[in-house]
Amino acid sequence: MKIRKLTLKNYRNIEKIVLEPCDGVNIIFGENAQGKTNIIEAIWLFTGCKSFRGAKDRELVRFGAEKSDISIEYDSAGADAEASIEITNRRKAFSGGVPLPSPVSLMGEFTAVVFSPSHLGLIKNGPAERRRFLDTAICQIKPSYAAALRNYTHALEQRNSLLKDIPYHGELLDTLDVWDERLIQFGEKITEERIRYARLLADYATRVYAGLSDEKESFDVRYEASGEGDLKQLLFQQRKNDIISGSTSVGPHRDDIDIRINGVSARSFGSQGQQRSAALAVKMAEGEIVKSVTGEYPVLLLDDVMSELDASRQNYILNNIRDRQVFITCCDPDALGRAGTGMKFRIKDGRIV
Ligand SMILES: Nc1ncnc2c1ncn2[C@@H]1O[C@H](COP(=O)(O)OP(=O)(O)OP(=O)(O)O)[C@@H](O)[C@H]1O
Ligand SMILES: [Mg+2]
Repeated sequence: MKIRKLTLKNYRNIEKIVLEPCDGVNIIFGENAQGKTNIIEAIWLFTGCKSFRGAKDRELVRFGAEKSDISIEYDSAGADAEASIEITNRRKAFSGGVPLPSPVSLMGEFTAVVFSPSHLGLIKNGPAERRRFLDTAICQIKPSYAAALRNYTHALEQRNSLLKDIPYHGELLDTLDVWDERLIQFGEKITEERIRYARLLADYATRVYAGLSDEKESFDVRYEASGEGDLKQLLFQQRKNDIISGSTSVGPHRDDIDIRINGVSARSFGSQGQQRSAALAVKMAEGEIVKSVTGEYPVLLLDDVMSELDASRQNYILNNIRDRQVFITCCDPDALGRAGTGMKFRIKDGRIV
C-alpha cells in the first residue's frame, strides 16, 4: 500500500496541504503544535476507522470552516486507487468518486497501522483497550468477525438487563437460556479468532521485540480467558452470582491479553522505554500480520515514536521499516539522520514550508 498524493483542505489547523510522499520513509517534522499529528490522523481516517485520538468528526473540521475535504491517490497491489472523505458533523466517504454507504466500507480498501503516544494505553491501561485492539485488528483482516462481535454485544446487553430483572420477576429465569445460547454461539467464535490472532501476534511481536532490545530482553503475549473451561459450563457455574450482581462475569468481554517482558507483566513492571517498545512491537506485528494475509504491507504511521527510546532501539526501527511506506513525525529531523534516503517535510502553522 503506497500513498502517491495526499490532499487536505480545512482539516484541523491545515487550510490546504498537498503532499506527494516517496515510497519509503517520509519524515514530517516541525515544532510543537504545527500540524504534524494532524497529517498522520488524516491519513489514518482512510482506513475507515475513527480518529485514533478519540476526536469527534466535527472537531476535525478547521475552526470557522463548514467542512473538510481530504483525499488520497494510492497504489494498492499495483493498481491505482483513489478515496476521499468529506467531513462535517459526520464523515462521508467516496471510493473512486463513488459514495460509500458508510466510512467503514473503506476498511480493507486502504490499510494502515498507526502508532502514536495514545497507543501506549495498550500496555498501560486496563483490559478494555487491549480487547479493542484485538477486535479492530481482527476486523481488518476478517470482516465477518465484526458481525459476530455485534451479535455478541447485543446478546450480552439483553442478558445483563434480564439478570437485573430476574430478582423481581422470577418467571423470567427461563428466558435466560435463550441468551446464554446466543452468547455461547458468538462468544466461542470471538474467543477462537482472538486466540488465533494472539498466537500470530506472539510470533511476530516476539521477534520485533528481540530486535528492539538487541536480543537482551524476552517478550511474550498470551491470551488470557476470564475463566477456565468452555463458556457453556462457565455461564452455568456463574449463573447464581451473575443474578446477584446483575451482570455477566465470564466471556470474551472479560478476557485480556497478558503482555510480559522478561517474564513479568509489562503493565506493572515495565520501564517507560520498555512499555513503548512493547506497544511498538505489538503495532509492528499488526503490520506483519496484515501483510501475511493481504500480501502487502499497510502504510505505517509512526507519530512521535522516537522519544524515550535509546539510540540502539531507534536504529532498529529505522533499519526495519525501509521496505514499506512510512510516515514518521518528530520535532528534530537530525535525530532521524540515520533514516538515510527518503523525503522530509517541514510543517509550520499547518503548511509545508
Ligand atoms: N479543528 C481545528 N481547527 C483549527 N485548529 C485546530 C483544530 N484542531 C486542532 N487544531 C490545532 O492544531 C494544532 C496542531 O496540532 P498537532 O497535534 O498536529 O500538532 P503537532 O505538530 O503534532 O505537535 P506536537 O509536536 O506537540 O505533537 C494545535 O495547536 C491545535 O490547536
Ligand atoms: Mg503531535
